[in-house]
Amino acid sequence: MGKLDGKTAIVTGASKGIGSGIAQVFAQQGAKVVLAARGDDVLALADTLRKAGYEATGVRCDVTDPQDCARLVQTAIDAYGRVDVLDCNAGICLLGAFLDADDAWRDAHIDVNINGVWNMCKAAIPAIIDAGGGAVVITSSVTGDLVADPGEAAYAMTKAALVGLTKALAREFAEQRIRVNCICPGYIRTPLVEGMAAQSDPDDPGRAIDAIAGAVPLGRLGTPQECGELCAFLASDEASYITGTQVVIDGGSTLPETTSMGQ
Ligand code: NAI
Repeated sequence: MGKLDGKTAIVTGASKGIGSGIAQVFAQQGAKVVLAARGDDVLALADTLRKAGYEATGVRCDVTDPQDCARLVQTAIDAYGRVDVLDCNAGICLLGAFLDADDAWRDAHIDVNINGVWNMCKAAIPAIIDAGGGAVVITSSVTGDLVADPGEAAYAMTKAALVGLTKALAREFAEQRIRVNCICPGYIRTPLVEGMAAQSDPDDPGRAIDAIAGAVPLGRLGTPQECGELCAFLASDEASYITGTQVVIDGGSTLPETTSMGQ
């Protein structure tokens, strides 16, 4: 018995990183999974899942395009007859100095990280209502709502906005039995974080990864699979009384330190 038996789930940004972890755990938990991302690599991952015996469909989709999002939802309905779960995970993070960066930098984050989630919710929520209710899970971040570093103004702004969107949609669709929650990951080892490590220490990106791990109380970065397990729980009936909240998954990295010597 899987947590998501009988459910159809759409996962965006599913070609790599956290999204591929979410899609794989959803499939292992019994969901029929529709994987979406911009490139062909998402088709290859869906193929791999099918060869492993899971029900999976890959779709090329740019979440900044509302028509692409509508087509994605229609593909899910055509393939599996319904949509129960939407996991909005696609996102970008480009570091930049606030005073040097142009508006295109800001707008790129707004387009993918906010409008992309907005577009997907608009496209998929009517289908989830038709299915009699379900769940939306959004990937926000510890950055924005809880912490922020220099260079992350555009990213932090958009990820904080997703926490607000989560709460508003949770209220708006509670009556239709749709639960809406977001996850706030800390550092998860993905191509995105490996790229950031290479940018910060081009001579030895591994050293930058070790430095990140050293600052996490649990002593390591998280994995896409760990995020997938959390999303599967939030998407499942086991989380039937959880809505409108954000769940931090960060190895303790946003825990405040104390100088009170145990007092
Ligand atoms: P990644 O760069 O490894 O993967 C991003 C995925 O999103 C790819 O599949 C890519 O094709 C897709 N994507 C990007 N723009 C898209 C668009 N316009 N339309 C459709 N798909 C698009 O990134 P990673 O690290 O896996 O991050 C996934 C999510 O998790 C993002 O929302 C990111 O902000 C968030 N996050 C990541 C953290 C980390 O430490 N890796 C920490 C906190 C949040």
